[in-house]
Amino acid sequence: MATTLIQGGTVVSATGRGTADVLIENEKIVALLAPESRLLGEDLAGSVDTLIDATGKYVVPGGIDAHTHMQMPFGGTEASDTFETGTRAAAWGGTTTIVDFAIQKHGERVFDGLEAWHDKANGECAIDYGFHQIIGEVNRDSLNAMDHLMDEGVSSFKLFMAYPGVFYSDDAQIYKAMRKSADTGLLSMIHAENGPAIDAMVEELLSQGKTDPYYHGVARAWQMEEEATHRAIMLANLTNAPLYVVHVSAKQAVAQLAAARDNGQNVFGETCPQYLYLSMEDQLGAGGFEGAKWVCSTPLRSREEHHQDHMWQALRTNDIQMVATDHCPFCFKGQKEMGVGDFSKIPNGIGSVEHRMDLMYQGVVNGQISLERWVEITSTTPARMFGMYGRKGVIAPGADADIVLYDPSGHTSIGLGKTHHMNMDHSAWEGFEIDGHVDTVLSRGRILINDNTYLGSKGHGRYIKRDACQYLI
Ligand code: URP
Ligand code: ZN
Ligand code: ZN
Repeated sequence: MATTLIQGGTVVSATGRGTADVLIENEKIVALLAPESRLLGEDLAGSVDTLIDATGKYVVPGGIDAHTHMQMPFGGTEASDTFETGTRAAAWGGTTTIVDFAIQKHGERVFDGLEAWHDKANGECAIDYGFHQIIGEVNRDSLNAMDHLMDEGVSSFKLFMAYPGVFYSDDAQIYKAMRKSADTGLLSMIHAENGPAIDAMVEELLSQGKTDPYYHGVARAWQMEEEATHRAIMLANLTNAPLYVVHVSAKQAVAQLAAARDNGQNVFGETCPQYLYLSMEDQLGAGGFEGAKWVCSTPLRSREEHHQDHMWQALRTNDIQMVATDHCPFCFKGQKEMGVGDFSKIPNGIGSVEHRMDLMYQGVVNGQISLERWVEITSTTPARMFGMYGRKGVIAPGADADIVLYDPSGHTSIGLGKTHHMNMDHSAWEGFEIDGHVDTVLSRGRILINDNTYLGSKGHGRYIKRDACQYLI
């Protein structure tokens, strides 16, 4: 039996903080030892196999990024991180679990898609991983398959109100899938943008010669997100389906979610770092084709309209419950460049899996959120939302020893020149400076990162069979 003691750190949970030592046996946390029992701790220090000094560090549950797309075929190409490179980058950034999206494409069977994603990930991951299921075609076959997803540990599925001709579901299909969600306990995840209206706007803009990346944001106006969010909420209300809206970026969409929650509905929202820090004016409108680096959907919103401030506020008030990355990286050369002269051909997506914990910690430094809320929105709530709490998202006896030592007196300079580990030839976060640093990362008791060195290996990460949502009202 391998034993590890993390000694002298400040253990932070979603509800508080305090000095405590954390004792690990093999893959699990077995005890939290308060300072009063330090004598015992000192005894233990001499007898454990590995002693980690956490003095001056925050000891937090490993990050859970519940929205990633490793090697996703999309926009005529494939997301540039494999499960190997993407999960290694995640580990560098203090994320110890991802939930990626298995895809049922149009014309395919749901379980063929799920199997294909298992094949891609199996034996490749540095950290633990689970799957949501994208239902790319709601029909009798896929609705039947949904009856068995929970048995496979897939307790959530995603439908798209956007991307007609690719993943798009119409209202009747969404209605049917939500009925199934209510029956099976699966959580409905929705990409809420009015795809058909957006496509009409895209056509209009391109015919006017408006081809730069900036117009991606113009075409995907906030009205398109608010309307679709409202429609999804109404369909969920009608069917009694729990609803989780992914990558929320518009303040008007947040208002829709808040109103539904005030109404007692099981409705939740996720935002991403890009909607908290980046804007349509500063990044999408960076000039020429440069803005392609930040083309993602939903799009970056206007700074002048203060969407970003509203999003921080929604995180404080719990109108938005958690932060994921929607990590969907594409290189600039050869991938983003596919859209030169036509913004609609730029593959949609930003890579951030490595930076989420740091970027959200900067929200603590800036006074936007508390330290406890940082833990809650990056780890504890994702674990509860997606049926992993107890094993993940908490430092407590019985939980997996997925632990991050975060150094508040450290510093992290983000960017390509300064090294990142995602498989991208640029960084959407180039130049961001973080007043904190991921010091040490453990996944199920194994040290993956220490002293700025990667000690993990592919194949360490295991598939997590998830249970039903533990966050329902
Ligand atoms: O731009 C994005 N979000 N790319 C990934 C696919 C999706 O809609 O989540
Ligand atoms: Zn989406
Ligand atoms: Zn996504």
